Amino acid sequence: MSAPPFHLGWFYSKGFGPKAWKHGWAGPRAAVARFTKPDVAVDLARAMERACFDYLMIEDSSNVPYTYQGSHNAYLQHSVDTPKLDPMVLAPFLLQATEKLGVVVTCSTTEYHPFMLARAMNALDHTSDGRAGWNVVTGSNDGGAQNYGRDKQYPHDERYDMADEFLEVAHGLWRSWDDDALVLDLEKGVFADGDKVHPLNHEGTYFRSRGPLSAPRSPQGSPVICQAGGSGRGRAFASRWAETIICAARGVDAMKAYREDVRAQADAAGRDPDSIKVLFLISPIVDETPEAAHERRQARYDFAESEVEFGLAALSRSSGIDFSQFALDEPLPALTSNGHQSSVAQMEGRVLRDVLRYQRHLECVPLTGTASSVAAEMREIMAEVGGDGFLLNESYFSRRYVAEICDGLVPELQRLGLTRTGYEFDTFRENLLAF
Ligand SMILES: Cc1cc2nc3c(=O)[nH]c(=O)nc-3n(C[C@H](O)[C@H](O)[C@H](O)COP(=O)(O)O)c2cc1C
Repeated sequence: MSAPPFHLGWFYSKGFGPKAWKHGWAGPRAAVARFTKPDVAVDLARAMERACFDYLMIEDSSNVPYTYQGSHNAYLQHSVDTPKLDPMVLAPFLLQATEKLGVVVTCSTTEYHPFMLARAMNALDHTSDGRAGWNVVTGSNDGGAQNYGRDKQYPHDERYDMADEFLEVAHGLWRSWDDDALVLDLEKGVFADGDKVHPLNHEGTYFRSRGPLSAPRSPQGSPVICQAGGSGRGRAFASRWAETIICAARGVDAMKAYREDVRAQADAAGRDPDSIKVLFLISPIVDETPEAAHERRQARYDFAESEVEFGLAALSRSSGIDFSQFALDEPLPALTSNGHQSSVAQMEGRVLRDVLRYQRHLECVPLTGTASSVAAEMREIMAEVGGDGFLLNESYFSRRYVAEICDGLVPELQRLGLTRTGYEFDTFRENLLAF
């Protein structure tokens, strides 16, 4: 019996901001300058829908960082995680340009109020006929917290306690209108039934909200919840709430262990583990010949290693640790981070220059070859890990890369029966749960 197909998503890394700009195939300066427009993302979304992806996830963070050397100069010179426009504004363009693709927007539980988030997601789900998703993050960089009036981020684990309450409030608001609350009886003159709309009256540790939500229940009821917790506390949170988990574990054994762990935790929490789809980050390089692909793989590593300041600034932002203090050719000491703890844990004891060379790209397994060899490798990895799919990621992609994946690699996956050739349903959640 053949294995069920697996799911595909795309991590729109570095958010609504510049993509390829000093790389090949970036186009002329005028094309690069259009990073403030939705067109590159719209082209990607259309290509993804052609290839029957489940969803596009828009990354976000909302500050011009200054962790590296205490200055924002390196971040701005090299465009390291900045500039970024608001992903909530990009999402409707992508949804408007597609019919079946899910669109996941990253919003932080320490930057939004639950009511504002619940309301925005409800509107996105209504206007897209049920294709909205939310990537739940808790914030990591102190500069982000300072833009929202605090001196620094709340402690790492407490952020997840807050996020638990945030989700309770948001779900309460999404449930505050019964399915049949909207009457629309023109003859009797009844628009909505007050008995079927319920205040929430939430008074918690971190949040207060009266409710009900200011609009009826949306097609999916609530957006598809996406999460990327890597630490123990983060995984516990993801196992409780997430419907799709995105994972950057390195190597097949770590991928398998991660999936088994979150599935076991979900099971213990009374959830069906199959209702969570774990997607693993990959950044494949496919070309006409294996040699051409491997040459590009080395060029990618060389480029990452040559951009020392870029790499150090990026690591500093996500960890909150100023990496300018460490020697490039020595193993890193034990590090304590209030930011992305699991990413920092992966670096300990490794030579910093190697981290810059090999870890700049978030990828669980480096995949390099022709479309057919990479597709076959993906099949083997999924068989070993047990499911549920892959999340494509190339932070500085060009339209060439999009075509290589969506019109080169994916048709090969489809030919092998590994990914879908058409959408089963109209809404994001239904398609995600279809297999
Ligand atoms: C693929 C992926 C995408 C992520 N996207 C974002 C993002 O858009 N914004 C953000 O603040 N954090 C993002 N994160 C960070 C996670 O939310 C999380 O903090 C991180 O994986 C570390 O886990 P921990 O919080 O349990 O320590 C992402 C992580 C991964 C692996």
